[in-house]
Amino acid sequence: MELEILEQDACEALGMGAFLGVAKASDLPPKFIHLTYRPSGTPRRKLAIVGKGLTFDSGGLNIKAGAGSMIEMMKFDMGGAAATLGAAKAIAQLKPDVEVHFISAAAENMISGRAMRPGDILTASNGKTIEVNNTDAEGRLTLADALVFAEKLGVDAIVDLATLTGACIVALGDNIAGLWSTDDTLAKDLQQAAQTAGEKYWQMPLEDKYFDGLKSIVADMKNTGPRFGGAITAALFLKQFIQSVPWAHLDIAGTVWTEKENGYNSPGGTGFGVRTLVQWVLS
Ligand code: BES
Ligand code: MG
Ligand code: ZN
Repeated sequence: MELEILEQDACEALGMGAFLGVAKASDLPPKFIHLTYRPSGTPRRKLAIVGKGLTFDSGGLNIKAGAGSMIEMMKFDMGGAAATLGAAKAIAQLKPDVEVHFISAAAENMISGRAMRPGDILTASNGKTIEVNNTDAEGRLTLADALVFAEKLGVDAIVDLATLTGACIVALGDNIAGLWSTDDTLAKDLQQAAQTAGEKYWQMPLEDKYFDGLKSIVADMKNTGPRFGGAITAALFLKQFIQSVPWAHLDIAGTVWTEKENGYNSPGGTGFGVRTLVQWVLS
């Protein structure tokens, strides 16, 4: 496989202002990870898998506070990136005739004198501007630049996985992930792969009308909408960073971790998504 790590200066040169805004406060530098698997012959298709890679999510200045904020769990906020790299390991061993790009804009969401401020306006690598009305909606900021990067590779489809919203856990609980897609065929292919793999996803609406909740008077959009339908506005936010490639978003906030043995998983990180992604790439 080929590995390319873009350091902060390279990300700056690409204009990844959304990703870098999130990374600003941490003493640990951001790393934009791009791993590529190429088959020996001509690839049957080219795919990209993008994983949210927050090594810790404190919430930033909108700090996760109070009982139920789950701040002590937020080491699992890299579960999307972990599943992406887990799928890479399996795919490199199975050697399908498909080119696959594995991507994560990895960073830590922290507080310090260098932190992104609530109210800051960031410019992403596709030129769109974002009013950060809540620093805790950081995953979508990192994914914005990762999705723009993925589409520029000229792939046939992009799937992202992210521990994106508490709202998705409220909607679907801890055993079913949310699925949003701009493309019915891609959604169907993923559901088929999930069924074979034994994972559960429930398709949710990309309801354009709800984008009203993200309207800003000072930027192209805010990063946070109203509390109700929060997993949907998060998906609609991501959609702003896709031009025309078939794309699907998997919200794995509920499924990334388990406290108990449940037949498939031991307590701890579950690796949710790996089985489905591998099956999808092979299909
Ligand atoms: N990483 C969290 C989402 C999360 C919360 C995953 C709880 C697993 C358990 C994400 O970055 C986040 O903080 N989302 C906010 C968004 C809100 C500010 C719009 C949330 O869901 O509360
Ligand atoms: Mg957050
Ligand atoms: Zn997060």
